Amino acid sequence: MALEVVVLAAGQGKRMRSRLPKALHTLAGRPLLAHVLRSVRTLRPARIHVVVGVGADEVKAAFADEADVSWVLQRQQLGTGHAAAQAIGDIARDSLVLILFGDVPLVRAETLRACVDAAGDGIGLVTADMPDPMDLGRIVRGADGHVRAIVEARDANEETRAIREINTGIMAMPAALLAAKLKGLRSNNAQGELYLTDVISMAVADGVPVNAVKAPCPEEVAGINDRMQLAQLERFHQARLAEALMRSGVTLRDPSRIDIRGDVTAGEDCVIDVNVVFEGTVRLGHGVSIGAGAVIKDATLADGVTIHPHTVIDGAKIAAECEIGPFARMRPGTELAEHVKIGNFVETKKTRLGAGTKSNHFAYLGDTTTGEDCNIGAGTIMCNYDGVDKHPTFLGNRVFIGSNSTLVAPIKVGDDSYVAAGSTVTDEVNVDELAIGRSRQRNITGWTSPVKRKKQRSP
Ligand code: UD1
Ligand code: MG
Repeated sequence: MALEVVVLAAGQGKRMRSRLPKALHTLAGRPLLAHVLRSVRTLRPARIHVVVGVGADEVKAAFADEADVSWVLQRQQLGTGHAAAQAIGDIARDSLVLILFGDVPLVRAETLRACVDAAGDGIGLVTADMPDPMDLGRIVRGADGHVRAIVEARDANEETRAIREINTGIMAMPAALLAAKLKGLRSNNAQGELYLTDVISMAVADGVPVNAVKAPCPEEVAGINDRMQLAQLERFHQARLAEALMRSGVTLRDPSRIDIRGDVTAGEDCVIDVNVVFEGTVRLGHGVSIGAGAVIKDATLADGVTIHPHTVIDGAKIAAECEIGPFARMRPGTELAEHVKIGNFVETKKTRLGAGTKSNHFAYLGDTTTGEDCNIGAGTIMCNYDGVDKHPTFLGNRVFIGSNSTLVAPIKVGDDSYVAAGSTVTDEVNVDELAIGRSRQRNITGWTSPVKRKKQRSP
């Protein structure tokens, strides 16, 4: 049977108290809905339908690149059953439908597969035991242990509210069965909504088997309804990611003080100090050391790289044995060859530095390419912008730029040449030349400092 997936994500997420649709709130740097889609795709479904409503355009725009999603609009949010009913018309009648919620981000593919496998000719339903199930739907089982119904907390009596087994919202069943039951839903409940959960008791009444699968860990199927739950799940997820890094051979100085908002892979014997944030795709070689408070995004750091504390790296390729920071900023298009040293308050952008080049203190290196073993003095500025266009700077090998120099691009500085400290360089410097671009020092002899006039006393 072909598999079609329906993700319900039209709700307003009232309890978030937010202008952003709930599906777009992020966990580990990705929208909640993105997590769900990622898990779903591993099942290779024939189609993925996502029901959107509140903020539909915003949600669709955020996922505009994902061509395999077919969007379904639920104009009014009349409940989960009503949401599923909006999608059913687009679903092949002979397929199996897996329904899940856009606000349950950490569900694993294995659990979804177990649900699909459990459906058979009936219904597969994922449940979980929660110590404190609050406002979640309760799973009511009969004396024979089989699931009989799902009762929403608000519609439950005290006895039912005491049940700890809850509905995760994940269920699978044949499309024809779902279509028939959705037609029969009524909104005679506390919230006046059409509940998808009522499909269960209706099917049971017809003798359809409901096969429950218990999720092994409650966090995996936890829904996010407010910002406290979002924060709790973020911490849970970060702990899992930290654990995976440690298993792959990384030392974390404190596994509870790292944030991974993307994908990080690491070789052996990397050491990561506290409060480091990773974003996007980050690849670490062997023996990389990252200091406290660094923020590293979309970067490759080769073997033996040392990042000192509070360094910000975005879109950079850093070769083996480079040393960067503290307080350095590597912007997109930065490429450092082996053994480059970058010190405090140095900013690079679209800049390639040759092996062994050093810029140890206070500098702006934009649109710059250097050869090997250059020394760029403190306070050097590559003036790459004329107010309209950006221009490049080229340094050869073994170039020495004296402190507090400005190089006005476009400009070339040849191999083994020097720029004297305090120069403003506007013309090309050739091989082996010393460029001095500053006014000559003049000393005035016999200089006496001005004397302050004495205040006159008032008579
Ligand atoms: C729902 C379930 C509850 C379950 C819990 C698990 C129902 C009636 N209740 O409650 O049994 O324990 O999830 O997290 O199904 N949605 C729409 N359109 C609507 C209403 C909701 O698309 O008209 C979407 C929401 O965007 C959300 C999902 O359905 O992604 C669940 O809605 P929500 O309001 O969060 O339901 P819960 O109260 O969490
Ligand atoms: Mg919810």
